[in-house]
Amino acid sequence: MMLKALRTALPDAEYMAIAPGRVNLLGEHVDYNGGAVLPAAIHRTIKVTAKPNSNRLVELHAVDLDESTIFSLDQLALKQDIHDMPMPGWAQYPAGVAHVLQSHGYPVTPIRAAFTSNIPMGSGLSSSAALEVAFGALWQEIGGWSLSRLMLARLCQEAENLYVGVNCGLMDQFASANGVEGHALYFNTHTLDYHLVPIPDDYWIVIADSNVRRKLTHSGYNDRRAACEEALAILQKDLPQIRTLADVPPDVFDQLAGNLPPIVEKRARHVVEECDRVNRAVILLEAGDVRAFGSLMFETHRSLRDLYEVSIPELDRLVELAASLPGCIGARLTGAGFGGCTVNLVEASATEEFITRLKLGYSMATDRTADVFACRVSRGVDAYPWNWNTARMEVEESG
Ligand code: GLA
Repeated sequence: MMLKALRTALPDAEYMAIAPGRVNLLGEHVDYNGGAVLPAAIHRTIKVTAKPNSNRLVELHAVDLDESTIFSLDQLALKQDIHDMPMPGWAQYPAGVAHVLQSHGYPVTPIRAAFTSNIPMGSGLSSSAALEVAFGALWQEIGGWSLSRLMLARLCQEAENLYVGVNCGLMDQFASANGVEGHALYFNTHTLDYHLVPIPDDYWIVIADSNVRRKLTHSGYNDRRAACEEALAILQKDLPQIRTLADVPPDVFDQLAGNLPPIVEKRARHVVEECDRVNRAVILLEAGDVRAFGSLMFETHRSLRDLYEVSIPELDRLVELAASLPGCIGARLTGAGFGGCTVNLVEASATEEFITRLKLGYSMATDRTADVFACRVSRGVDAYPWNWNTARMEVEESG
């Protein structure tokens, strides 16, 4: 009952924004290396309601955590609340977005706001990006200025890079801003072009949350990114024309791999092969060869486990179990890794049984419980004027 709680928190709300999380089908850890990715927005969302304030303050209430904070739009760089105390971690996402919007000259309206989410936090389904994109779209709607969805995503990414301090790529914010029902987005993170790829009707995307929350993600993520930058700098000595690791064909990489320190070589090999895999995979998917696409998902998991080293035993178990179940044609960890979720491609008729058996197998193998659910691919962010008295609650509740 997300909406009831929101209504209680801010009964006089005048605006609503809804932003989805995302699942990534293929192309992991390549969005900061100029590669193409294949994410889809999912029906798990963050909902924010807001009302403009007459002072310079932003007053936020995180309904699910039952926590609040107040900060000033004139002192965002300090990352402090109005009592000069550090802002709670979750508040840095909206505050970062406000900071970046202001620094690019977009006026940010002071607000009272409340938000709630059914995207599990720290699970690799981009709850942070959804939070950023929801607030970005909200301030855009209230401010009446216009910004493309791509630009909105880029500013939200900037907030996460510069304000929150995670050196992420653009995939998550892009998917949350641009999602389209029933479609994955084949997004080239170098040219910023994209096109839609329909998800075949006879397969379901099933998400399995290991319920192991990510640890050391920030440092683990930033380390991987630094290794990629090191690899690029070394490879550019022989290949001055390359701008990103995505420009290096796998056979050329093989010839030069010996120039790289061993760990850097592993990281870069994953990236080079993954970029190539996504480009092959999308052709297969568009040609209707969903099974061949699925086997590339398994390959990606092995590469993330052995070369990029961002998997954990629980995610490996989930993928092994999935591979052994009828109807599952592809499975791998999704998102940054270090915990979180797997994404599975399952024949529609086998989905129910798959979910039951995966849960059972996981609890027997690990003594943990997995949340496993079939996922509807939904649209990207939306923001609009809102009035609780005239709201179509049943429609919004399902969004
Ligand atoms: C996180 C980041 C993304 C991307 C993925 C890994 O979700 O936010 O930019 O790098 O990890 O593919």
